[in-house]
Amino acid sequence: MKEVKVSIFGFGTVGRALVEIVSENPEVVGVKIKVESITDRSGTVWGDFDPLEVKEVKENAGRISALGDYEVYSFKPKELIEEVKPDILVDVSSWDGAFSMYEVALKERVSVVTSNKPPIAEHYDKLRELAEESKAGVYFESTVMAGTPIIGLLRENLLGENIEEILAVLNASTTFILTRMESGKSFEEAFEEAKSLGVLEEDPSKDIDGIDAFYKAKILHWVAYGEPPEKTERVGIREVEDAKNVRLVARVSKGEISVKPRKLEENSPLLVSGVYNAAIIRTNNLGELVLKGKGGGGRVTASGVFTDIVKAALKFPSPR
Ligand code: NDP
Ligand code: HSE
Repeated sequence: MKEVKVSIFGFGTVGRALVEIVSENPEVVGVKIKVESITDRSGTVWGDFDPLEVKEVKENAGRISALGDYEVYSFKPKELIEEVKPDILVDVSSWDGAFSMYEVALKERVSVVTSNKPPIAEHYDKLRELAEESKAGVYFESTVMAGTPIIGLLRENLLGENIEEILAVLNASTTFILTRMESGKSFEEAFEEAKSLGVLEEDPSKDIDGIDAFYKAKILHWVAYGEPPEKTERVGIREVEDAKNVRLVARVSKGEISVKPRKLEENSPLLVSGVYNAAIIRTNNLGELVLKGKGGGGRVTASGVFTDIVKAALKFPSPR
């Protein structure tokens, strides 16, 4: 049995769901997962502790530093890597600047698993380079479509295909809001309802203005073509008046990404509702592939993170 020490950075909806999944499956395919530390903005708990107890305290008191029974450390991200020395850093935070922490981790040969989009969208080339040098890996399945495995599909299964185009609905919050507007709610009412879903970004304007979907489209572009797009377009849903059959659609093709509201055909696979995402991937040999699944929520996102932890432990696939 291979044991891996995991540092969980961020302890919101996804981090807490991840702790539940790890507690239910501490050993999987020959890998034993030990949660070595958990961090939120108030501090880090490190060493021998019960992750479910930390989760309970976080849910009741709102901060890890309220733990009475364990010491809580005030590490800077760099100190966290250097002191705790995990095998895998799991970033499930909403920190846009987390790239600087990944740099430290990879230089220390610590693999990175993340559901946090901006560091991958903005710095994928640099991260890939660092991963190659250190032989550690960077895994980011849940950044796009949460645990629904579009990254694995593109990065592993379709490696030999030419990706001609991806059309996708990648943001669950805007789908929810648009479908509520379709059934007669105002934008403001629908937005208020969306708050209870657990899928809005910490700063919800990232959902509404298409920024979240844009990061995701950019990540898909990196994975499909190995380079950033040259031409980009981003329009959010604030100006949508008639929401009937409208979804926030991302289009990715070589050199170009666009995110904007589009009116879809009645029978379009992209006409999803609730927290579902969908993607149509067109390739040279396969024609059209359709992938549909939940694109947000604690367990759904933590599922992709959990599988990535197992992949990182097994170095599967090998870093590239
Ligand atoms: P939450 O807002 O629920 O939690 C974010 C966590 O990050 C909080 O615990 C927060 O600490 C912590 N955090 C933020 N900045 C820092 C920092 N500088 N230092 C330490 N901790 C920090 O977000 P979610 O759990 O919903 O999402 C986590 C990540 O996963 C986000 O990047 C999100 O975009 C992504 N994601 C989320 C999905 C979802 O459905 N929820 C789906 C796919 C990806 P504190 O609690 O102290 O404020
Ligand atoms: N805020 C995101 C969404 C969470 O609504 O899709 C999943 O990435």
